[in-house]
Amino acid sequence: MAITCNEDLRLLAKKRAPRAIFDYVDRGSYDENTINKNRQDLQAMQLRQRVMIDVSKRSIESEMLGEKVSMPLAIAPTGLTGIMHGSGEILAAQAAEELGIPFTLSTMSICSIEQVKARTTKPFWFQLYVMRDRGFVRSLIERAKAAECSALMLTADLQIQGQRHRDIKNGLAVPPKLTVSNAIDIMTKPAWVWHMLTSPSKSFGNLTELQAANDGLTTLSKWIAGQFDPSLTWKDVEWIKSLWPGKLIIKGILDPEDAKHAVNSGADAIVVSNHGGRQLDYAPSSIEVLPSIVDTVGDQTEVYFDSGIRSGQDLLKGMALGARGGFIGKAFLYGLGANGKEGVKTAIELIRKELDVSMALTGINGLDEISKDILYKKP
Ligand code: GLV
Repeated sequence: MAITCNEDLRLLAKKRAPRAIFDYVDRGSYDENTINKNRQDLQAMQLRQRVMIDVSKRSIESEMLGEKVSMPLAIAPTGLTGIMHGSGEILAAQAAEELGIPFTLSTMSICSIEQVKARTTKPFWFQLYVMRDRGFVRSLIERAKAAECSALMLTADLQIQGQRHRDIKNGLAVPPKLTVSNAIDIMTKPAWVWHMLTSPSKSFGNLTELQAANDGLTTLSKWIAGQFDPSLTWKDVEWIKSLWPGKLIIKGILDPEDAKHAVNSGADAIVVSNHGGRQLDYAPSSIEVLPSIVDTVGDQTEVYFDSGIRSGQDLLKGMALGARGGFIGKAFLYGLGANGKEGVKTAIELIRKELDVSMALTGINGLDEISKDILYKKP
């Protein structure tokens, strides 16, 4: 079957990856109001069709954090990527590199910083979660520096984890465990098993030192509750900046007041995000709050958005509301689960083509022409 849209990749990933990891990627927290709203609000926006305009000189090349990118899109940090598909972080980083967009490695990745570095040729970005053990946080930052990561992304919205019912019901475990209840599911996915067996890592690759001190804590939620530091504040950003003199991105901003704090803390960029609807349920969608955040800090920092981007049209709509670009999580993970590195490339290429064609049909040639004017109803 020809793959023509991200939903095709999603359905393939559903067939090929074990249920517990597919659900982890696919679902949101509690009543899933926010995850659904992310999609609904993007889908409710309409684009303004314009005709008889010369759109023969289109370009979507851009810059993010001073780096040249082939389009204004980056891969978001996602936990457990190497369980969606063995070596997942390495494959996704390679796909991003080949297609000229940034890749962000999660603290909660399966393949480690060093394993990704060893299999890529261009700098990637590293996402940081702050643990109670600050010595360990310092060592993570040192490792990101040693791997020549070109930006550090601090995630601000997950010191306490929102509950995802499916993960509990499915008994999601890291490393993956064969149990009576998942045996049939896993046995019907031999390609997934093979990729896992041949992956350089099967558990949290960046956390081996800490995990050793926590035998038996195999579920993500228990691990987070035990290790992440709920006392994190803006003050800690100073400390992080003293260890990391490079570019700093703060992700998880959903309120103009917090956007101001992020700017005052010295963030080079922020990501307007509700963590893909996986944290505070009944929080507004990213696209809904984006305009107020752009109005507040858009002239002081680079504003990006994530949470709900599944197509080039979604990206275009966010950019019309003032974002400089977007990040994808689920959209690339579906590609990865469907078809490894090639699947990630397909996911990115689909968005690239959708963005390009939609720009043409709204009558524009370049990213600098994107504005509220391309929306059918201006907010
Ligand atoms: C972690 O970032 C998660 O959303 O599970």
